[in-house]
Amino acid sequence: MIIAVGCDHGGFPLKDTVIETVRKAGHDVLDLGAFDDSPTDYPDYAEKVGRAVQRKEADRGIIICGSGVGASVAANKMRGIRAGLCHDTYSAHQCVEHDDANVLAFGARIIGPEVAVEIVQAFLRAEFSGEKRHLRRVAKIAAIEQKELDN
Ligand code: RB5
Repeated sequence: MIIAVGCDHGGFPLKDTVIETVRKAGHDVLDLGAFDDSPTDYPDYAEKVGRAVQRKEADRGIIICGSGVGASVAANKMRGIRAGLCHDTYSAHQCVEHDDANVLAFGARIIGPEVAVEIVQAFLRAEFSGEKRHLRRVAKIAAIEQKELDN
């Protein structure tokens, strides 16, 4: 897969770890910045990653900010983006298996590199189950999105 990776200054301390983990797992990285730890705005990077996924320039995305909250909130505003905020490995694979998450978000002020590695590995290994009940629920998410667009 091609994995788009983005972070703000709060997420920057974990960006290299994430990129190395993605590559070690056999995937390609689309590095969308930030490229240093100078203060920046997480919505800009969440949008870059979400756009890459929307445009199919990447199969999935990973966004890192200080808490992961702002980046996930921003990415989830984007059509077709389902970003899971995960600081544990169970959520990291279940968000793909059940919710068809296409973006992983977490915070570099919340977890350290060892946990981040395991979370990224769990996210990358996971596949959407395609089970009927999960398809129905994901379709309901898309219906909410559509209603918002129609309003
Ligand atoms: C930046 O200071 C911080 O607010 C940001 O990285 C993130 O944690 C927002 O949710």
